[in-house]
Amino acid sequence: MSTPTTRELYDRYVIPTYGRFDLRLARGQGSVVWDEDGKRYLDFGAGIAVTSIGHCHPRVLAAMRAQLGTLVHTSNLYYTRPQAELAERLVRLIGAPGKVFFCNSGAEANEALYKLARKFGNEGVPPESKHTVGEIIAGPACRTGIIAMDGSFHGRTLAGIAATGQEKVKKGFEPMVPGFQHVPFNDGPALLAAVQEPGVVAILLEPIQGERGVHPASAAFLKLARELCDRHGLLLMFDEVQCGLGRTGDWCGWKTLLGDASVMPDAVSWAKGIAGGFPLGAMWASDRLVTLKAGGTVALCDLLGPGSHGTTFGGTPLVSAGANEVLAVIEEEGMLENARALGAHALAALRALGSPLIADVRGVGLILACELVPDFATRVFTLPDGKAPALFLVEALHAAGLLTVPSGTHAIRWLPPLNVSREEIDEAVELLRVTLERLTLAR
Ligand SMILES: Cc1ncc(COP(=O)(O)O)c(C=O)c1O
Repeated sequence: MSTPTTRELYDRYVIPTYGRFDLRLARGQGSVVWDEDGKRYLDFGAGIAVTSIGHCHPRVLAAMRAQLGTLVHTSNLYYTRPQAELAERLVRLIGAPGKVFFCNSGAEANEALYKLARKFGNEGVPPESKHTVGEIIAGPACRTGIIAMDGSFHGRTLAGIAATGQEKVKKGFEPMVPGFQHVPFNDGPALLAAVQEPGVVAILLEPIQGERGVHPASAAFLKLARELCDRHGLLLMFDEVQCGLGRTGDWCGWKTLLGDASVMPDAVSWAKGIAGGFPLGAMWASDRLVTLKAGGTVALCDLLGPGSHGTTFGGTPLVSAGANEVLAVIEEEGMLENARALGAHALAALRALGSPLIADVRGVGLILACELVPDFATRVFTLPDGKAPALFLVEALHAAGLLTVPSGTHAIRWLPPLNVSREEIDEAVELLRVTLERLTLAR
């Protein structure tokens, strides 16, 4: 009997929640991966913004090998040095006092945000409350509403899909977790109206929306969100799972958009690139003081006290040692500067392609998108019926040896490692140019 192929094993044994491309990847090095047949691909998807310093960086391998032979896991019943040092590093990188909670993924990091907001709304005294203390304690004045954005993506847990501003992720999983409402992204008046609703406790947004075409928040919108949170006593929560920790050329995506630190959120979620490919999520909360209905005050970052939240694997010594090294490498090897410089280079080179199939090129640092023209399907005669143009192009690029990620139906995303080289960017641009030309000529 012949050995089943990887694909056959998947078809038989893996629950088919993903629409996978027909590629069987076997190994990686830097910005390159190879499939089981030895074919080379430039990896400009980086596992959807995860392998932030490329595959198999020698410093991360060394740090994790050392930790692997020392202590892998203890649970969070005990203290471990790598987690403590990682928390300190993250607080330093964000540039404001606070504390960090560790988990395993972006959806979980966001879950920590929602629970923080619920605790804040349930146990904190609303500013200038019109209710008596008795009413507040009895409950009617509890604030639990989170305003999120249309087009957003916050993960696949039940609360994650409720928070996400895209209908397709919710379908079939109703009823939704209550407490989320959505406003159009970057729409100041809509946000202004939404915060007037009773019961609102937080605003949640991705400074750069990644999953529906790479759309940055405007500086004005970020400033308005902060101002409204201050005025109404709300939490401003940023989902930096995809755009944070270096991808924009700054540790904090929102600071790249503003050009400064004039807006600081109350809480932030991270995952994806934080540990360069190992599963880790984290939430930072500021030390802003919360007045409690029960009396007294507590720092926001201490509101989720013992027993209120947790996860077995969050921030193991092994993954924390890896993340510490990944973040040190980004810092010490000039990768923020590289992301800024090569992001600008890639943006210019993609725009210079002048392809009639590309309507727009946008992005910040190394989170970039090429938006395809709305009538893409009529300009390439090989597009199968009903296939999204972005999927079609991503597959055509696979054949050429370039991995990219679809973003919505009409955009392809580039999320290369932060240490990608200028030569690799130029090679990827050339592969895209040749592929687009081939598709256009195929009419
Ligand atoms: C902005 C954002 N938030 C949350 C998530 C969910 O992260 P995870 O897939 O690690 O749960 C993602 C994943 O793409 C994301 O892009």
